[in-house]
Amino acid sequence: MKICFIMYPWERVNPKQDSSLRIIHECVSRGHEVALTNPNNLAIRDSITFGHCNTIVTEGKVKASVASFHKHIKFEKSMRPLGEFDVSFLRANPPLGPMVLNFLDSIKDDVFIINTVQGLREASNKIYTAAYTDPKNELIPATHVSKNIEYLTSVIKDSPSEKMIMKPLDGYGGSGVIVVEKSAMANIKSLLEFYVERGDRQSNYVILQDYVEGAEDGDVRVLMLGGKPIGALRRRPAAGDARSNISAGGTVEKYTLTKQDKILCAAIGEKLVRDGIYFAGLDLIGGKLIEVNVLSPGTITDINKLNNTKLQTKIVKYLEKVIDQKNKLKEEFRPENV
Ligand SMILES: Nc1ncnc2c1ncn2[C@@H]1O[C@H](COP(=O)(O)OP(=O)(O)O)[C@@H](O)[C@H]1O
Ligand SMILES: [Mg+2]
Repeated sequence: MKICFIMYPWERVNPKQDSSLRIIHECVSRGHEVALTNPNNLAIRDSITFGHCNTIVTEGKVKASVASFHKHIKFEKSMRPLGEFDVSFLRANPPLGPMVLNFLDSIKDDVFIINTVQGLREASNKIYTAAYTDPKNELIPATHVSKNIEYLTSVIKDSPSEKMIMKPLDGYGGSGVIVVEKSAMANIKSLLEFYVERGDRQSNYVILQDYVEGAEDGDVRVLMLGGKPIGALRRRPAAGDARSNISAGGTVEKYTLTKQDKILCAAIGEKLVRDGIYFAGLDLIGGKLIEVNVLSPGTITDINKLNNTKLQTKIVKYLEKVIDQKNKLKEEFRPENV
């Protein structure tokens, strides 16, 4: 297979921790051709979509250890049409500029894009889960989204609970996630104004969500491949912080999915696949879904260490299966076979 990773700059790869590096290493080890490009390095020439690529040069045996593969990696620079790849693996950091998806639209009929352009359009911000129909809030905590400050204030006032979680709609890595408490109502208007009018004073959407009890003990990250869980871990927040994100100081622990987690994964997994989201990271608290990460979910390295597994093998085998089936279908549909 030929696989193009559209990812963050190579200089940002930390060989000890990086999930993309492990997937790339697995691809190269299994004999696949791998090129890397960046969302800012896409171009159109003569109406064809190209990427300024760094193709990995393989000479002889591929280094068995990820660290030594990373240390000795060699690239060949060239401009390559994205349509020539079997797979385009998006591993960009959020937020993703909407134009990248327009570039990918032009190759989506020829290349297996993980995740699909349609899926990314739908699920790359938190409205994807906020608007999930779940009238009894069995799977997702009650969630409200608006940029109307009066309305948002009334949501907090009317909430049966003393505290709620507030977060920016397009945030990531725990940034801007806070607990708001009714006892601090005097601050709420100012806080909401700050969230809605942040940045260039363009109004931003704000999420208010029921606080899920038990969040003090951390959240659970589940990696979903083809709609099924392939690995999980617990992230415990740093002392005095409500956020479990590793980038916000959270630490990781081994975790086994509960019965309720599995019910949730089955329900959400079915939707993910239907929406073209084949690889995703779910954040769960107390068996409820908090967030679906579709852009570049990490934690592969930590889950591998905690469980003595190699999730990247499952991921690349999955890609091999998809492409194999796609090629067989193409074969069957050749006009001379009809
Ligand atoms: N409804 C909630 N109840 C309790 N804690 C929450 C809730 N929503 C988020 N958190 C905490 O904040 C963290 C970050 O929230 P999340 O929605 O995953 O946003 P981000 O995209 O910034 O990761 C979560 O991992 C969790 O620890
Ligand atoms: Mg999260």
